[in-house]
Amino acid sequence: MHDLLNAVRKLRMEFVMSGVQILEAASLFQRDMAAGLKGLDSPLKMLPSFLARPTGEEKGTFLAIDFGGTNVRVMLVGLKGLGSYEIMAHRAFPLKDPAGGFDFTSENTDAGQLFDFIAENIAEMAPPGSACPLGHTFSFPTLQLGVNRAVLIKWTKEIRMPGMEGRDVNQKLAESLKKLGLGHVVPVAVINDTVGALLAAAYQNPGADIGSICGTGHNTCYIEPCPPADGGEMIINIESGNFDKLRFTKYDISLDEASERPGEQRLEKMVSGQYLGRLAQAIIQDFIDRGLIFKGNEHRLFKTFTLRTEDISLLLADQSRGLSNVAGWIRSALGIDSLLEERVALRTIASIVVTRSAQLVASTFAGILKHIDPELSGVHVIAVDGSLYELTPGYSRMLQATLNNVAERDFSIIGVKNGSGVGAAVAAAIAVQEVPKYNL
Ligand code: BGC
Repeated sequence: MHDLLNAVRKLRMEFVMSGVQILEAASLFQRDMAAGLKGLDSPLKMLPSFLARPTGEEKGTFLAIDFGGTNVRVMLVGLKGLGSYEIMAHRAFPLKDPAGGFDFTSENTDAGQLFDFIAENIAEMAPPGSACPLGHTFSFPTLQLGVNRAVLIKWTKEIRMPGMEGRDVNQKLAESLKKLGLGHVVPVAVINDTVGALLAAAYQNPGADIGSICGTGHNTCYIEPCPPADGGEMIINIESGNFDKLRFTKYDISLDEASERPGEQRLEKMVSGQYLGRLAQAIIQDFIDRGLIFKGNEHRLFKTFTLRTEDISLLLADQSRGLSNVAGWIRSALGIDSLLEERVALRTIASIVVTRSAQLVASTFAGILKHIDPELSGVHVIAVDGSLYELTPGYSRMLQATLNNVAERDFSIIGVKNGSGVGAAVAAAIAVQEVPKYNL
């Protein structure tokens, strides 16, 4: 019992950040933003979006697709102006379905098959006949050459599909649409999901100037008042998940080494839903191996079990005295009965991992705010979308409290729904206005 308490205490010290550490991370992040903007060596790519703040007056009906990494969603979105919109139709389909016999995240597939599959799903929703502009939210790092041209730099979130890196995403989509006789569906804009979250929020709230995703992956964008290419303010996709000036624990190091791309996306591997479950699992496994919990049951534990980030939420949601839900979870996941102290340890491990995630994300927000407003005196609204933010008990509260603490004033962090769909529609509306050649 004493050893277990000590081990949990030590873990907390390794993971949970002090105010000073959060401020240090914020200023390193700010420095890397400035370097990335100047094109100097930096883990932050600072990618241009070729889009500025919407007016809120964008109108029309648009197809939107949201390609996030786990699912693809197709939507028909009506923008009505004055910040109001309607999702007129909506469907989602997984990228991987063992029962359906496909897995578009694996190395055994290719971009042609993937985009043909997406085009088939668009076909079912595309209004027939007249030209229909489409906005595409593509949630991976892309080098943007224009509002409608984005070349995939690298896959993240453990996607392994070959042959797509270095290719123009919307061109592939347009080819697959044409093949299916859907030439009237015109992909006019391609954006990152963070940009989608920001556009969707700013469509309704002109104060919104930072957009972030805390979900399977993690990343943030913001409105840069002085982008390197002149022409006024522009939304910049930071690709903040690749930030790496961080304090790594032994668990972070082994998770990174075992990942698809060691050395990359280090912040994302410490904060996002794709990885938090694995991180908690590695800690629990270590506690078991050290004989701190589940003694006598070591042989049948975690080796073949996968702890998901949803399980972390379940552990955190248990407010009962005896942690009866945690007990039930251990029984069904591992087939054993547990002691109360073991349940407390598991719940604490979950909370430590999640706390550090919120602290790290808050430190990057503080760095961005300092970059755009060194005195921290203006109004800024941070729009956040994603399952981690939405569904993990306490996450949004912790994010907000940590930011307010280090910034020493209140900033507003708001949840944004349907960011990728509405944001893609807003981007399409802006593109259609700006590029008369679409003539839609
Ligand atoms: C990608 C980003 C994306 C984020 C959230 C990361 O893995 O690199 O482009 O915005 O996930 O989906």
